[in-house]
Formats: sequence, C-alpha cells, structure tokens
Amino acid sequence: MASSDEFQTRLEKLDSEFAEIIRRIPKRGSQEPAPFWLHFEMIERYKVLREANIEAGMNILEIGCGAHAITTTVLAHLVGDQGRVVTVDIGRWRFVEEILIQAGMKQRVIPLSHDATKLPLQYECFNLAVVVHGIRSFRNESTITQILKEMLRLSPRIFIAESLPIAKTKAQKAHLEMYNLREEIFQARTGEKDDIHYLPLEKLTKLVESAGGEVTDSMIMEIDQPHFLACVPRVIVGKIEDEKIRENLLQRWNAAYEKLQQHGEEHLPVGIVKARRK
Ligand SMILES: C[S@@+](CC[C@H](N)C(=O)[O-])C[C@H]1O[C@@H](n2cnc3c(N)ncnc32)[C@H](O)[C@@H]1O
Repeated sequence: MASSDEFQTRLEKLDSEFAEIIRRIPKRGSQEPAPFWLHFEMIERYKVLREANIEAGMNILEIGCGAHAITTTVLAHLVGDQGRVVTVDIGRWRFVEEILIQAGMKQRVIPLSHDATKLPLQYECFNLAVVVHGIRSFRNESTITQILKEMLRLSPRIFIAESLPIAKTKAQKAHLEMYNLREEIFQARTGEKDDIHYLPLEKLTKLVESAGGEVTDSMIMEIDQPHFLACVPRVIVGKIEDEKIRENLLQRWNAAYEKLQQHGEEHLPVGIVKARRK
C-alpha cells in the first residue's frame, strides 16, 4: 500500500483528538514514501507511550527531543492543558518550535538547551522522565548511564523506549543493515561515534540498574509500521576523507540500499524499560 493510503488508514484508527493533532501538521515532502514520515513516527511514539501511564496534568522531563519534536508532541498531547513537558536537547532544535506550533502544543512545552548529563535543576520536580528513541544518540555507555542518573535524580520514575537489534522480516533486516552503517559513517566523518548500534533489551535494563534504577517492567513491543529514517544520504558517505574506509562504506551502503529498495523499510521491535529510583 502506498504510504499516503496507509497513513489515512492508520489515522482513522487513532483516537480523534490525537488524529486531529496529526492532521494539523503539514506533509514534510512531496514524494512517496516521504511526505508522511513524521506523522508515521508520531503514531509510533503514541503507541509506545501508551505503556508509560501518562495522566493529564503530569510534569514530564523528556531527554533528547531531536530536531522534529516527535515524542515531545505526543507527550504534550498526553499531559493535557494542565500538564507540562520540559524537553532537553544538547543541540538539535531546528524544527521543534515550528512543529509544536503546527500541532497546537507549544504552550505545554518548555525547551531546555543543555547537556543532559548534568542538568541545571536542583531537585525532583517531575512525575516522570522519558527518553524515547534517544539512547542511540548518547554515544557511549558512560554518557547513557550519567543521563539515566540525572533522570532518576529529577524524577522518581523513568520510561525508556528504544529500537532493538531484532530483525525478522526482510524489510526489518534491510533497516538494520543500513542503520548499522551509521556508527562507522559518523566516526569516519567526525572522529566520534553517533547513532550507536541499537542495544539489546538486557543491556538497556542493565544500564538502568547501574544508574540506580529498579526495573519495574520491561517488554518488547512489535510496531508493525513502515520506517523511513535508517538511510544516511550517500553523498555524506562520499565525503569521508580516508579512501579505503570510504570505498568500503560506499560498497556496503550500496548493498544495503538495494535491499531497502527491494523490501522497503520497517520499524524494528521496540524495547521498553520502566523503572523507579531505588
Ligand atoms: C535520535 S534523537 C531523539 C529523537 C526523539 N526523541 C524522537 O522521538 O524522535 C536523539 C537526540 O538526543 C540528543 N542528545 C544527544 N546527546 C545528548 C546529551 N548529552 N544531552 C542532551 N541531548 C542529547 C541529540 O541532540 C538528539 O537530538
């Protein structure tokens, strides 16, 4: 099914208030399968966040809103008019304000541009701290642990969701093969890892425990949705200076891209970890 038809079908299944928010956000491009990628991602966040037991009026800390406020928009909807979302990001803010305005959610969100390993807040002031599809961007285990510690310092409960390195269908395998090039591509381009490989659920729970959390629940959620974000543009790979690394990555990129073209790209199952402060 073309993504725009599939999008309409999924929209009809959402609760009407959230569907209305999604409808307010304009398409993000004109060519299939891209125009509704942001909307699909928000629908995925909505599905995942149903597990977070968010109630109207809550104060929520979000780490890593990313440039498109995908989780932020859903959180703002869930906390309602009386709730607040403080969203922290170290630097990617490009479309956040624009999208929150389009969604009608701007008044519920307080943006904080900061490194989440040390936040400028004195004491517990949230009902819940969340990071959804953000762990992969925290670069290494020591930063992940430090950020989880901060979340547990500022909130008695935390909620983590992240894609898992589990691929059953061909479209999931294509997603994973392409995504797994990112860590090496970023390292070759900048000298630093980013978008590290997705961590297994056991690793996520261990990291939460080592940050001082007591895991109260963990699960694997099947997403059953298309995905559009695994691919780093080839032109970026082409800019890697080291010739040997560049040629090797270009070859692997071509192979992964062919599989994406053949099979499409599908969301991987998501690992969810809920924890409270010990
Ligand atoms: C993959 S994006 C998050 C996506 C978003 N949560 C969503 O639902 O699509 C991860 C974000 O984490 C941010 N980030 C990475 N390290 C950080 C740190 N130390 N402190 C705060 N934000 C950080 C990045 O700038 C990036 O915007």
